[in-house]
Amino acid sequence: MAEHLKLDNSERLYKEAQELIPGGMMGIRRPYNFVPGEYPIFFDSAKGGKVTDADGNEYLDMLCAYGPIIIGHREREIDAAVIKQIKEKGFCMSIVQEVQNTLAKKVISLVPSAEKVVFTKTGSDSTTLATRIARAFTNKPKIIRCGYHGWADWCVEGKGGVLPKTYEDTLEFEYNDLQQLEDLLKANPGQVAGIIVTPIGHPNAHEVQMPKPGFLEGAKKLAEAHGTVLIFDEIRTGFRVSMGGAQKLFGVTPHMSVFGKAMANGYEISMVAGRKDIMDVLISKAFVSSTYFNNTLPMVAALKTMEILERDNMLDVIAKRGHAFCKKVRKHVKASGLAVQFTGEPWMPYITFDKDETGAYKKTRVNFYTQLIRRKVFLQPYHHGYVAYRHSVKDLNYAADMIAESLEEAKKAA
Ligand SMILES: Cc1ncc(COP(=O)(O)O)c(C=O)c1O
Repeated sequence: MAEHLKLDNSERLYKEAQELIPGGMMGIRRPYNFVPGEYPIFFDSAKGGKVTDADGNEYLDMLCAYGPIIIGHREREIDAAVIKQIKEKGFCMSIVQEVQNTLAKKVISLVPSAEKVVFTKTGSDSTTLATRIARAFTNKPKIIRCGYHGWADWCVEGKGGVLPKTYEDTLEFEYNDLQQLEDLLKANPGQVAGIIVTPIGHPNAHEVQMPKPGFLEGAKKLAEAHGTVLIFDEIRTGFRVSMGGAQKLFGVTPHMSVFGKAMANGYEISMVAGRKDIMDVLISKAFVSSTYFNNTLPMVAALKTMEILERDNMLDVIAKRGHAFCKKVRKHVKASGLAVQFTGEPWMPYITFDKDETGAYKKTRVNFYTQLIRRKVFLQPYHHGYVAYRHSVKDLNYAADMIAESLEEAKKAA
């Protein structure tokens, strides 16, 4: 049995934070999303593939800040490029700097759906802007969505404080269910501006799903038949599953797509990329502007991240190591005999526990993730993990071994 971690500083800072910030911190970073009492609540620092908490415990970081960390924490070359920009040029000005064009040219060369591009800051900025562009382009009101697209009113899952009229034109369908998508389009003739879908299915707390043969192609066909803009939400898949996103990997080019997270290895940038005629509604028909969207530090970081990813073939390395890791984990999962699913190979590994009538799976889930965090592997019970470039083969072998031990412990306690 691994020992309970010393988490005194985390607990102290959490207590303090609750007096300062509602809930201590925002949303998905709150303790109830982990195993309360077992997981750290505050990190102190991070380097490469590791994170250190406020009590000095070091973990293998397989949550990767929920996706932005594609190479590793504190990448020297990226940070150096950013620091150079700070020292030699500056980054927050009243009009744009040339790096905007340099980055736009780069992403247009990489991403199949990108003919023109707009840079924003967060995934929610980009998904929301994409829906606005689709509405302005088609002059239609409704959006059909599939997946998590952020905290904006039109798509947020918690409805407290949100006016129903802001989301009543948002319809939802299940990933991989083309029939449902077609039914929704037919039930709303001439009404649907856009279909936004994550090209890989990764709904919160559920298994990661790959597209069934024909799903993405079928969605595009349906979009075109109904005069609707197909938008891929590549916030998690972009610059991770391939340099051109999942659209490049699966060979289906949407009309528009959104990227963020891995695009700049942690620096805050996202983008909407799409067909020229669609994107050009932003010239005068629709509006977007925000004080910080033009700041260039994240643009410099994005360019350097892309340069390094390509130069060192990092996404191939990640996929290869991810496959080897997943093969080991699958073997352990099978050997455990527990009702467990392992999905997301090779980029987004996730261990989920099959629901049962008595709810006993919840206890097994808590036991498993408790054992895993005590063994210093940082994964989240309700969200898939990620493989980053700085996860060495040794790190991933360690994680696979610790998963095996934790499954064993969870089984004993079941
Ligand atoms: C697929 C997807 N779309 C959109 C978002 C929203 O991005 P952000 O949290 O940067 O606003 C997320 C965030 O996790 C996401 O995973």
